[in-house]
Amino acid sequence: MDIYRVAFRPLFFTLLKTDPEWLHQQTIRSLSWLSQTSDRPPASWVKQRLQQSLCLDDARLEQTLFGLKFPNPVGLAAGFDKDGVAAHIWSSLGFGFAELGTVTYHPQPGNPPPRLFRLPLDKAALNRMGFNNCGAAAMAEKLAHSTHELTLSVPIPLGINLGKSKITPLDAAAQDYLNSFQLLQGLGDYFVVNVSSPNTPGLRSLQDASMLSNILDLLQQENETQKPIFVKIAPDLEWDAIADIITLAKTYKLAGIIATNTTIRRDGLKTQVIEQTGKSPQEEAGGISGAPLGDRSTEVIRFIWQQTQGTLPIIGVGGIFTPEDAWEKITAGASLIQVYTGWIYEGPLMVRRILTGLLAKLEENGLTSISEAVGLQGNREKGN
Ligand SMILES: Cc1cc2nc3c(=O)[nH]c(=O)nc-3n(C[C@H](O)[C@H](O)[C@H](O)COP(=O)(O)O)c2cc1C
Repeated sequence: MDIYRVAFRPLFFTLLKTDPEWLHQQTIRSLSWLSQTSDRPPASWVKQRLQQSLCLDDARLEQTLFGLKFPNPVGLAAGFDKDGVAAHIWSSLGFGFAELGTVTYHPQPGNPPPRLFRLPLDKAALNRMGFNNCGAAAMAEKLAHSTHELTLSVPIPLGINLGKSKITPLDAAAQDYLNSFQLLQGLGDYFVVNVSSPNTPGLRSLQDASMLSNILDLLQQENETQKPIFVKIAPDLEWDAIADIITLAKTYKLAGIIATNTTIRRDGLKTQVIEQTGKSPQEEAGGISGAPLGDRSTEVIRFIWQQTQGTLPIIGVGGIFTPEDAWEKITAGASLIQVYTGWIYEGPLMVRRILTGLLAKLEENGLTSISEAVGLQGNREKGN
């Protein structure tokens, strides 16, 4: 029985109507405690039990991409562990990789609460967190302290997602990203230039080719250890703008593209009123994640795959809840996928359920490895 779906979710989401950000803070606090004390009882015991029930090891799910070994293709998306406080625990929850951040060079409080809302009718969330985080120096200190243990105990790649500090003007953005990268370069396995959050004023204008090339140029000059660098893009970009970013990805030898962040679109939502504010989703600022984003993010993944003939790795994210959702993203062209909102709704067993389902899909299709499924439907026309 899945206690999360049968008891936890109805109790905390429906009956008690727990504030989503408060619940997130409690979850992160517990996971942080587990992460930092997992080498001694009782945390070591809890960690072992988690691994037994949530992890699934199978050689058919493994891939080596951009020099990193991924035990499975399902990762934690950015925004859940913004300060990297639970870096040790994500592998014990079944994830094949985890992305920490978004972290900014300057510590910042983010937008005023309430800033995170559930839209259960739509299996979605609306957030305008605004990169609340303790800053790159604090993350570097935390990760540096645990680097020794990390190399011993974390068998999964850890990415670090970088954002622009709110106080930094847009024309100084490249230096701001560089400052964070300089502090963290040795501590992440891959890095992400996040220019797609809707919750920092002007941030998405950095997706513009000339602005983005400044940032990528500076980071790659500094990138002595040749860490894989990704750009994370918004689902709301026009095809031309995505094509420009693909060109930049080639010019600056990026490891790939993460598609996508949350959307500012509100069409098709069933939710009329958000309970916490009494206003409609149309009246509330922020990005929508979860089910309403699924089709658009798959469309973006397929576009990138087609434009690059599958030569540029894609991390697919947006609206993944089930093995079918995951399979759709992978066969559209994503080598790896990430989850956030789905994990909140479906609970911790979701990763294992997806991995089990992916293995069944491989068997159904006569494939022996997940890498053979990447882009299998990449050439499919829209709507087929
Ligand atoms: C509460 C919340 C906070 C988020 N914070 C970040 C963030 O700091 N950086 C980022 O790149 N994406 C952030 N995201 C976006 C997710 O990483 C992901 O791209 C998006 O939610 C789509 O995936 P999903 O439908 O599985 O949630 C956030 C999403 C949510 C719901």
